Amino acid sequence: MNIAVLGTGKVGSTLGTRLTTRGHRVLYGSRTPTGADRLDHRSGDGVAVRVQRRFPRTRVVKTLNTMNFAIMVDPLASVPAATVFVSGDDAAAKTVVTGLLGDLGWPDSGIIDLGGIHTATATEQAGSLYFATVRALGDARFNLTVSR
Ligand SMILES: NC(=O)c1ccc[n+]([C@@H]2O[C@H](COP(=O)([O-])OP(=O)(O)OC[C@H]3O[C@@H](n4cnc5c(N)ncnc54)[C@H](OP(=O)(O)O)[C@@H]3O)[C@@H](O)[C@H]2O)c1
Repeated sequence: MNIAVLGTGKVGSTLGTRLTTRGHRVLYGSRTPTGADRLDHRSGDGVAVRVQRRFPRTRVVKTLNTMNFAIMVDPLASVPAATVFVSGDDAAAKTVVTGLLGDLGWPDSGIIDLGGIHTATATEQAGSLYFATVRALGDARFNLTVSR
C-alpha cells in the first residue's frame, strides 16, 4: 500500500519505519507552518473531529493515541492483552486501518472499534490519564487496556 506519513517526529518515523519493513511504500511529508492554523477550532470538539470537518472528503480514522510510540509497534511488550481503539465514520477506511494495525503486530482481539469519528474525542481526553500514569510510574512502556 502507498502510505503518506505527515511529520518525521517520533511517531511518524517509528510507524513509517515499521510499515516499510512490512512491504508498504511510505512517503513522508514535511512541516507546513500554515497547515495547523487552518483547522477549525470549535468549543469542546476533539482534534480528529476538527480535521474531519476541515477535510470532509477525507476519510479520517483515529487510532494509536493512547500509548507511547514504542508500544505502537510492539504492543505485546507491554501487557499480554493490549488494547488499541479505532474511531472513524467510514467503515472501509477503518478496515484498511485495522489491517495496518495487524501489520504493526496488533492482534484482532485487541482492537476495539469505538464508532464514528466523534468517539476519538474520548481517547484524546484519556491523554491526561496517560500522562499522569507516566509520571506516577516514571515509565512510558505500558498500555491502557480494557479487561473483561
Ligand atoms: N510520542 C508518543 O509516544 C505519542 C503517543 C501517542 C500520541 N502521540 C501524538 O503524536 C503526535 C506526534 O508526537 P511525536 O512524539 O512524534 O512528536 P515529535 O517527535 O515532537 O514530532 C512532532 C511532529 O509534529 C510535526 N509538526 C510539528 N509542528 C507542525 C506543524 N506546525 N505543522 C505540521 N506538522 C508539524 C513534526 O513534523 P516535521 O517532521 O515536519 O518536523 C513532527 O512530525 C502528537 O500529537 C502526540 O501527542 C505521541
